[in-house]
Amino acid sequence: MKDKTRIAVLVSGGGTNLQALIDSEKRGEIPDGEIVLVVGSREGIYALERAEKAGIEHTVVHKDEEKLIKVLEEHHIELIILAGYLTILSADFTKRYANRIINIHPSLIPSFCGKGMYGLKVHEAALSYGVKVSGATVHLVNEIPDGGRILLQKAVEVQDGDTPEILQRRIMEQAEWKLLPKAAEMISKEIREAEG
Ligand code: GRF
Repeated sequence: MKDKTRIAVLVSGGGTNLQALIDSEKRGEIPDGEIVLVVGSREGIYALERAEKAGIEHTVVHKDEEKLIKVLEEHHIELIILAGYLTILSADFTKRYANRIINIHPSLIPSFCGKGMYGLKVHEAALSYGVKVSGATVHLVNEIPDGGRILLQKAVEVQDGDTPEILQRRIMEQAEWKLLPKAAEMISKEIREAEG
């Protein structure tokens, strides 16, 4: 059997989803994959500190896809996980890594997704529409923002009096931090078996 699938996690913020991946790998729940690189979209984000603390190699690439590809190639990356990554990738990039990029989105796609729908905006939109259920989705990434094949989804209840911040936190705890490691293992295993 080939070596574990080599994973890069791309981040732009606090990195709680990155932390969920790191913790899950440590617990042995991603036996077919290994996080070997974390790429931040800018300096100073807390996600990079999490990588440092976990002893994972990390770097910053700011809006430079050629450089990003170079870094990914140097590290022989086979699976890219977007974990709160705010830069939209070009069609050239998503084609180059077809079926090798996954993203977590904090709603039940196709609701509250697409261009401009990120972070708290997603939860603000869900609350102002008045939905009673929201959740999270892990999907493959193609050239359409939030448009690739859905891999996993989990519903989370909206409660009376929710603010966007409260709903965001509940969706992270109940859905995102569970789904993303699960999807990471799913795709890592597929890649490993296909090339085994
Ligand atoms: C998460 O809600 C994720 O779904 C979204 O951005 C947020 C990132 O949070 N796309 P974190 O950086 O993982 O804490």
